[in-house]
Amino acid sequence: MKIGIIGAGNIGANAARLFVKAAHQVVISNSRGPQTLEPLVEELGDNASAGTAEQARDFGDVVFISIPLGKYDQLPTNGWEEKIVIDSNNYYPDRDGQMSELDSGSTTSSELLLQHLPGARIVKGFNTIWFEHLRSQGDTSLPLEKRRAIFIASDDSEAKAVVAALIEDIGFAAVDTGFLAMGGKSQQPGTPIYNKELTAAEAAIELAKSAKA
Ligand SMILES: NC(=O)c1ccc[n+]([C@@H]2O[C@H](COP(=O)([O-])OP(=O)(O)OC[C@H]3O[C@@H](n4cnc5c(N)ncnc54)[C@H](OP(=O)(O)O)[C@@H]3O)[C@@H](O)[C@H]2O)c1
Repeated sequence: MKIGIIGAGNIGANAARLFVKAAHQVVISNSRGPQTLEPLVEELGDNASAGTAEQARDFGDVVFISIPLGKYDQLPTNGWEEKIVIDSNNYYPDRDGQMSELDSGSTTSSELLLQHLPGARIVKGFNTIWFEHLRSQGDTSLPLEKRRAIFIASDDSEAKAVVAALIEDIGFAAVDTGFLAMGGKSQQPGTPIYNKELTAAEAAIELAKSAKA
């Protein structure tokens, strides 16, 4: 599959490594320009190249966005129709600045992103796993229920299935938390599943407990 990656830091670069290892093709971008990504794409090999955010967006059947949330309004606003977008961003006010609509709980970071990327098929995902765990804990030899969980939420069930398959390709198991609004909320920093080392089987139990509480 063709995957565009916007953000080449802790999460974006490690996701690129995993996707390439699983025989996907990536175009990866950052804010400083493709030339600054030469060492990374050299390491990634023939299935990777560097581009601008627009080029990553155009290349990807799936576009993986992993930037500090406070910079979401720097992303291009056009060309997103029908693109499956993985939103791995989290809201950290100390880093991102206060965002009143998130502070009040009236919306979620993914819904905010969606307003900026009209037509995108957003799947919240990869935001609850620490990058060192993303880098090291995937294991395709394990049955799904014993793999580390990566949580996903979306209003688009087809997009969710595509992202779940990608997650399985890189050795994790996708665990569905529901629609973007409610599911997305249950994946935010500070929730019981955030940055917890849970297998898919344990994750299902944890989500059931949270639903009862
Ligand atoms: N770190 C984690 O373990 C972790 C885990 C789950 C989720 N997250 C979330 O994932 C996101 C990324 O985290 P990270 O730790 O990977 O951050 P990071 O290491 O600071 O990397 C951020 C990346 O975003 C790029 N970027 C910034 N503005 C951009 C723009 N306008 N267009 C294109 N690229 C842009 C930066 O490029 P330049 O370097 O060129 O500026 C950099 O490559 C955050 O929202 C974070 O909360 C992080």
